Amino acid sequence: MATAALAVLIPLAGCRQDMQNEPKMIPQRGSKFFASGRSVRPQVLGTVARGQLDADTYFYTGLIDEKAQDAMPYPVNMTVLRRGQERFDIYCTPCHSRVGNGRGMIVERGYKPAGDLLSSRILKEPLGHYFDVISHGYGAMPDYAAQITPQDRWAIAAYIRALQLSQNATLQDVPAGVNIQTLAEVSQQMGYAPSFPQGWTIPALTNVPSAGDMIPNAKLTNTNQQAGPEATNHGVAGKQSRAKGTKK
Ligand code: HEC
Repeated sequence: MATAALAVLIPLAGCRQDMQNEPKMIPQRGSKFFASGRSVRPQVLGTVARGQLDADTYFYTGLIDEKAQDAMPYPVNMTVLRRGQERFDIYCTPCHSRVGNGRGMIVERGYKPAGDLLSSRILKEPLGHYFDVISHGYGAMPDYAAQITPQDRWAIAAYIRALQLSQNATLQDVPAGVNIQTLAEVSQQMGYAPSFPQGWTIPALTNVPSAGDMIPNAKLTNTNQQAGPEATNHGVAGKQSRAKGTKK
């Protein structure tokens, strides 16, 4: 019996649940393993780790001798432009809008006006400038280096050129023999009224409730008796009349 118990216990003793105490290195935590106290070996001077070689400076910066250049580091085809369009629509349209005129939703709601990518000044900027702006931000614009890979940043830069062309295109830009349709015709084919692509007039708001109407207990919370009978609307009217009074 005892021999049988030992036979079970001895293998179990070697089977401790040690997973909560793994001998692994955690970033920024010291270790007694190396004499230096570090948990990683410093990179050997003059070597580059796998996947960290940014040898193609232009591809990674858009600059040559610190000046932005107007060239793509790889050939552009429709696949690249479609990828650029997709990434642009995800990351840039909230501020620059789908056509790039700088009037995206966020700007319409009060963000600092984003650059109009169709303006003559920005149109003249080289492709490398767009790459640089995405990589490092520009004025009030944050950078998108963490979200967009260098490959995709170039695809977006190429797509900005396509947008600029599309918004300034003339009939001469269309190859001979290609059927040209007006926006009104395209709208109708898509099932919209011909006037769909024209400017939209947003109807003015009427019957906007006042602050007092939106806060049901507003009248009850106003304890300012001094302000007089007009101070029923959450004190707002009373404050206004006092402000007028001080001006006199
Ligand atoms: C959060 C809003 C926002 C987003 C998103 C945004 N931008 Fe901008 N962008 C701005 C603002 C604001 C400016 C103008 C900055 C200034 O002049 O201070 C600007 C300016 C620019 C300019 C003009 C720089 C110049 O030379 O004047 C370019 C090019 C540009 N953005 C490209 C992009 C691209 C490409 C993306 C998407 C990857 C993008 N932006 C996303 C807000 C944004």
